[in-house]
Amino acid sequence: MNIIKLRVAAIREEATDAVTIVLEPLDGVELRYKAGQFLTFLFLFQGHEYRRSYSFASTPGVDPLPFVTVKRVTNGVVSRYLIDHLQAGDVLTCLPAAGKFLLEEESLRPLVFVSAGSGMTPVYGLIKEALYKKNAQRVVLITQNRDRESIFFRSALEGMVSEWQGRFEWFSLLSSSARRLNNALLSEMLDSMPEWGERPRFFLCGPPGFMRMAIFTLRLMGVADEEIRRENFVVEYVPPPPAAVDKEPKEVVLYAEGRRMSFMAQWPSTILQAALDQGIMLPYSCKGGRCGSCAAKCVKGMVRMSINEVLMEKDLEQGLVLTCVGYAETDLELRLSED
Ligand SMILES: Cc1cc2nc3c(=O)[nH]c(=O)nc-3n(C[C@H](O)[C@H](O)[C@H](O)COP(=O)(O)OP(=O)(O)OC[C@H]3O[C@@H](n4cnc5c(N)ncnc54)[C@H](O)[C@@H]3O)c2cc1C
Ligand code: FES
Repeated sequence: MNIIKLRVAAIREEATDAVTIVLEPLDGVELRYKAGQFLTFLFLFQGHEYRRSYSFASTPGVDPLPFVTVKRVTNGVVSRYLIDHLQAGDVLTCLPAAGKFLLEEESLRPLVFVSAGSGMTPVYGLIKEALYKKNAQRVVLITQNRDRESIFFRSALEGMVSEWQGRFEWFSLLSSSARRLNNALLSEMLDSMPEWGERPRFFLCGPPGFMRMAIFTLRLMGVADEEIRRENFVVEYVPPPPAAVDKEPKEVVLYAEGRRMSFMAQWPSTILQAALDQGIMLPYSCKGGRCGSCAAKCVKGMVRMSINEVLMEKDLEQGLVLTCVGYAETDLELRLSED
């Protein structure tokens, strides 16, 4: 498993209880990533390993150095450490960039971003990519925050609204002014916007309740699921192992970084858990089917997933599976995806 070390080049206050951490590769080795992706950092506190993912707010080709923005979570182990104790010059350890919250190839198509709180982080990276690199003609951003001071990247976004007049619109709702996005308000806002021309694509990132509300509204408005991209920061619930899987042990052959490995996986262990239990280090972060860090390509055999909140139809058609919530139904051959 590839491990990357990054030096903290700078830390700056971004908003109430949130800092931006600017990263520089050690030894000048370029960090490869796409806007909207995330890094999974590894921390060791008192002998216990913690993995936490943080999305890039930076955009390759636009920002000189990569950066992530971290919001304090009350009693959160890692966010509190990063905000209260991390210093410039410290070295962080992480897995290679991962994630499928991407613009992909579209450019001229209208793009609508809906975010709340720290959900702005990957959205900011994607908006810069759409405007500065992909010549997007129409980008709409709807944000929900507690108050003005809690808005991530506020002055940069205000500058972008002036710079991209007619192409970038930003609607900022503040709970402190009793403006809270709900089903009725979201559909009213979208309905009142000028004709889209081409169908817009939606990108959602925020707390679980906010995401559910937005997805429900968009579906009610007739937006197809494949037009809704989402990034979940929080795993609320991991379903139990499916009962109907064949419970005999299965052989999993895994190709990763040019090496062939094999191990046995047996219900009720997931493929990821079986590998870890046998000393095979596979990448993972949320362990709940939400982030995509553990995705692998299944080239032979059948995997049953108990949940999938991240792979799209076209990923599934290519054979991608999530090993953290995947159970071997037959002997398997898996390849770790490189990006
Ligand atoms: C793909 C992905 C990208 C992410 N990107 C970012 C990012 O760009 N910026 C960022 O600040 N965070 C991001 N997160 C969330 C981040 O990984 C951590 O979960 C978060 O910082 C909390 O970790 P912690 O160790 O401080 O809290 P923990 O010690 O893990 O949790 C403490 C308590 O808070 C709850 N909790 C955990 N996370 C949240 C949350 N986000 N909101 C509310 N309650 C929570 C937990 O259920 C627990 O009860 C991302 C998560 C994922 C999966
Ligand atoms: S580790 Fe997050 S989806 Fe598997």
